[in-house]
Amino acid sequence: MLGDGVQVGAEQQPVAVAGRAADQPLQPLQRPPLVHLQVALRVVDHRPAPPVLGVHPQRGLLGHDPAGQVDRRRLAEGVGDLVLQLGDHAAVAVAVHRGVRRDRRQQVGSGLRAVPGQRPVAGPAQRSEVVHAAQPACRPRGGTRQALPVRALVFEEFGGPLTVRSVPEPRPAPDGVVVQVGASGICRSDWHGWSGHDPDVVLPHVPGHELAGTVAAVGDRVRTWSVGDRVTVPFVCACGHCPPCREGAGQVCLHQTQPGFTHWGSLAELVALDAADVNLVALPDGMPFATAAGLGCRFATAFRAVTGVGRVVPGEWVAVHGCGGVGLSAVQVAVAAGARVVAVDVSPGALELAAACGAEHLVDGASDVPAAVAELTGGGAHVSLDALGAAVTCLNSIRSLRRRGRHVQVGLLPPAVGRPEVPMELVIAGELAALGSHGMAAAEYPAMLSLIEAGRLHPELLVTRRLGLDDAGAALAAVGREPGIAVVTSF
Ligand SMILES: NC(=O)c1ccc[n+]([C@@H]2O[C@H](COP(=O)([O-])OP(=O)(O)OC[C@H]3O[C@@H](n4cnc5c(N)ncnc54)[C@H](O)[C@@H]3O)[C@@H](O)[C@H]2O)c1
Ligand SMILES: [Zn+2]
Ligand SMILES: [Zn+2]
Repeated sequence: MLGDGVQVGAEQQPVAVAGRAADQPLQPLQRPPLVHLQVALRVVDHRPAPPVLGVHPQRGLLGHDPAGQVDRRRLAEGVGDLVLQLGDHAAVAVAVHRGVRRDRRQQVGSGLRAVPGQRPVAGPAQRSEVVHAAQPACRPRGGTRQALPVRALVFEEFGGPLTVRSVPEPRPAPDGVVVQVGASGICRSDWHGWSGHDPDVVLPHVPGHELAGTVAAVGDRVRTWSVGDRVTVPFVCACGHCPPCREGAGQVCLHQTQPGFTHWGSLAELVALDAADVNLVALPDGMPFATAAGLGCRFATAFRAVTGVGRVVPGEWVAVHGCGGVGLSAVQVAVAAGARVVAVDVSPGALELAAACGAEHLVDGASDVPAAVAELTGGGAHVSLDALGAAVTCLNSIRSLRRRGRHVQVGLLPPAVGRPEVPMELVIAGELAALGSHGMAAAEYPAMLSLIEAGRLHPELLVTRRLGLDDAGAALAAVGREPGIAVVTSF
């Protein structure tokens, strides 16, 4: 999702450490603590985002400089040497955007060595690669703060064990913040990431993107936020200045980052968030973190899918296919918008919750759904949402529409799970609209928040389970098996 922040040319230089070839095995060195790292970076678009850089005391990287040892003023210039101050047994690596795909990692320039399986946790992460590591053994300078470990849910292989362990404390990017997570919902998108459906996820990984919490650290260039502010954030963190951002469509930003996908996420005590001035959203006083977490992803996504993309108006019929976190939110928002809702799910428990959210009719997803919706609505829905993301719900949603109806695709359909067949003949004959909906930009949050504050929307009713971080792995692996929304509220 992120693009062209930094390019590195073929002239890349290895780390200049005691005459050692950069791609030889790493040995502790008796060296003074100052190490020059020459990487010949060139900033293409002059964005303030620096290359990602990290230091990890034991494992050979990677975070974004958790020990605070990088001279970021030099980084911000984007060119030339990086001056690093390294601690005992520190290892350092530089992640740079190379404009090539991950699977061409081996094409790193001469003298550089890729270190697979390591992940920057902040900054412009997409297509960033660790291209070099060196391990001098030096004493830290006096006053250098050591990073504290934080608890996080980690997986080391796709579909593999999800375990809680200590990871390095994240530090904010210059334009970013670190948030102490108060609550983090478990969304099916986390499951997609864990399942290996998202090419942005690099192992090992910390999932979690639907969060609320308290600002714990602030980057130098952040203007609007301070430590202690209570916030949520759209899971799509926009850059604020690419063409879509300038058009007010940060939810499809060209340089977006996403916690829990492009870097480590919020199923952890702390999470780093980029471009804070563009993306953070202040929570209304008194709104509990458990309620607010959903505003970071599924509730806000559903709000925009129904109101902004589906453009539902009072009296219209809305069909919602899949009544989990997204679907139940969509039912609630559609009812609040004055629509009449048909809820579809294969789980009786999910349908019960949909009824509690105001759905007028409940349809078993294993039945002939389009026929049932047509009958219940007198010819089909005006707006229909696929809120699961499966071939069957995509098709059912399109076939549930009346003439000139609007299908809104919210559920993810990653190619890894197979592409759905879209009946384009029906789209043409019925003049149907097939619309995609992706999150919601921070600038659109005030409208949603004012409806919540006015008591017209009730995200708090959607939280059905509160978990500790130790139970998050099992809940993530079993997403969709238990109706309702699970939120991690203790870390
Ligand atoms: N577009 C976006 O911006 C965005 C944002 C958030 C989530 N998502 C995606 O939305 C989807 C839903 O996420 P969620 O967390 O609400 O998932 P969820 O697992 O909570 O809910 C899915 C629901 O679908 C139901 N279901 C399963 N098979 C069905 C069928 N054949 N017919 C009808 N219902 C069926 C399940 O019983 C469950 O209730 C996921 O793909 C997620 O990745 C997209
Ligand atoms: Zn942008
Ligand atoms: Zn989500």
